[in-house]
Order: sequence, then structure tokens, then C-alpha cells
Amino acid sequence: MSGAPLLDISDLRISFKSDTGYMNAVAGVSLSLRPGETVGLVGESGCGKSVTSLSIMRLLPKTAKIEGSIRFEGKDLLGLKESEVRKYRGNDISMIFQEPMSALNPVLRIEDQISEPLRMHRKMSKREMHDRVVELLRSVGIPRPEQIAKEYPHQLSGGMRQRVMIAMAMACEPKLLIADEPTTALDVTVQAQILDLLRQLQAKNNMALLLITHDLGVVAEMCERVIVMYAGKVVEEGDVRSVFRNPQHPYTVGLLNSIPKLTGERERLTPIKGNVPSLANMPVGCRFAPRCPFAKEICRTEHPPLTKVAAGSRVSCWLAEEAVAQ
Ligand SMILES: Nc1ncnc2c1ncn2[C@@H]1O[C@H](COP(=O)(O)OP(=O)(O)O)[C@@H](O)[C@H]1O
Ligand SMILES: [Mg+2]
Repeated sequence: MSGAPLLDISDLRISFKSDTGYMNAVAGVSLSLRPGETVGLVGESGCGKSVTSLSIMRLLPKTAKIEGSIRFEGKDLLGLKESEVRKYRGNDISMIFQEPMSALNPVLRIEDQISEPLRMHRKMSKREMHDRVVELLRSVGIPRPEQIAKEYPHQLSGGMRQRVMIAMAMACEPKLLIADEPTTALDVTVQAQILDLLRQLQAKNNMALLLITHDLGVVAEMCERVIVMYAGKVVEEGDVRSVFRNPQHPYTVGLLNSIPKLTGERERLTPIKGNVPSLANMPVGCRFAPRCPFAKEICRTEHPPLTKVAAGSRVSCWLAEEAVAQ
């Protein structure tokens, strides 16, 4: 471990107000990223990945109660006033989403969309701004950037729109990019191109990347470290190589088994049986116990702590191999 973390989230808890009280979507998540590092945050749909990332951007609705701390370069983001939040959002920290069409404004030309963060965070003349937009479009691999700059989002393909969103996120050269399922809506070829682009930009700018995905295959290709979330909690965390070679949590094993593999002529896929529990009905002990083929008595009554194991990862499971001294 070298250097101070860029982002340091500690014991993050997020609940949403409902008719029957608060429903807990994130239950004590801690994670950190160093400058330039790529970390994958994985888990099935509904595990709390997006809620976690939106809390970093302070984009959750007012009905959300957020506790714990989110430090960026040592400063607690949760304590900032809205005016202070606007100074770092889209500047030091940017985010891209799964569905570019919902994040792009349909009535703004591409040039005006990408200029928005520049207008907000940089003092530039019109000419400088135009040149920067064209340069950004070129850097994300958009052909004929001068012409595309004049078009509207609906005139572009899904892959091109995602490139535009990346260009917009990169406009102020963020230190941290949060990418929430950036390729889920795209077909496989375009997906590979977008991941490749993110990797290039990340290396060129020494930017930290928090890559959120439900696909461990994407993590294997892109990330140094992986954090596996299940039902609002971290169940396993470690460097990608150790977690893939020696997964400790049955949920991680299940996710790994559900990556499509080309074995011989047939594709093998074993999805994990059952569903993520609903917020209103969380199991008392380990949240994965109802779906776990190995669950014992203790798993149903007590939540296992996140402990460091000999395989090098940290895991929250009563059945994991013996813990080693922290
Ligand atoms: N604005 C909201 N109000 C109430 N519940 C929400 C809200 N946003 C998300 N949730 C709930 O929080 C949980 C986690 O959601 P989310 O972070 O979107 O999951 P993921 O991104 O891992 O698929 C889900 O049960 C979801 O229904
Ligand atoms: Mg999500």
C-alpha cells in the first residue's frame, strides 16, 4: 500500500424513507481508492452499487438518510454545502451512467453538452471552449468531431452517445471517474471498445476509476482490485488475482460461475438460485444465507464480520478459511 487514499469511504449507511419507516439500502460499506487505481464494484442488481456511487456525487434524493463518512483528498464530502458540492462534481470527480440518453439533454447540441462542465469550472473564451470540445471528442474516438459537435444526442448511436458522455466527464480532467455500468446497454463489440477507451484515458490521465458492474468478466479485464457487494454490504474484497483464483465467499463463487464460459462448443452458465432480498425483508444473520448452499445455523442468526483471510482477501463469511491477523 502506498500513499494516502484519494477516496475513502467509511461505514457508509444509506436508508430511504418509506411509509413504514426507513429502509436500509447500504449497510456499513467501507472502501478506498488510491490515485490512478482501478477498482471494480460488483454485485447483482439491487445490491446498492448505484446508491453508493450517487452518494459520492451527492446526487441522492432528499428522502435518503446518509451516515458514515466519504472523504475525498481528506475532505468529508457529506459535510459540504450544496454550493461546495458543485465545485467538485464534474470537476475533481465525474460520473458516467449506463444510459447516456437519460444523462444527456436531448435539446442540447453535443458541443453545448460538453461545454457545460467547462463553463462551470474553467474560465475559457468561446474559441478556447470550442477547441477543447473538439479535442475531447477526438480523444474519445469520435470521427469528424467538428461535425458531430453540431449534432443532437438522438442523431448518434448508443456507442457514440456513451463516448460523448465520457468526453463530458473528462472535460475537467477529473481525479476520479465513477462509471456505473457504462457498457451494460451496449452490444458486445461496442462494449469492448468503450472499456478499451476507459482504460486508455485512465492510464493517460492517471485517473482513479471506480467501475461499477454486475459482470465479473469486465472486472477481470479492467481492475486491480474488486469489491463484491451483496444486499448493501461488502462480502468480499481483494486484489483481482487472489479473488478470482481463490474466491472465499459463496456469493463470489456464484458470480464467478455465472460468467459465460466457452467450454467446447457449449456455453456454460450457472446463475445463482434465488433473488437479492428486498429492503423491507432483510435476513437477520448473513444476508446471503437464504441462497447459500453451505449455510449453517450461525449464518442465519449472526452477521459475519469482514476479516482478512490467508488467501489475501477480506471476506465476510462464517465458512471462509481461517482468518489471519490483520
Ligand atoms: N430513491 C430511492 N428510494 C427508495 N429506494 C431506493 C432508491 N434508490 C434505490 N433504492 C433501493 O436501494 C436498493 C439498491 O439500489 P441500487 O443501488 O440501485 O442497486 P444496484 O445499483 O446495485 O442495482 C434497491 O433495493 C433499490 O430499490
Ligand atoms: Mg445500479
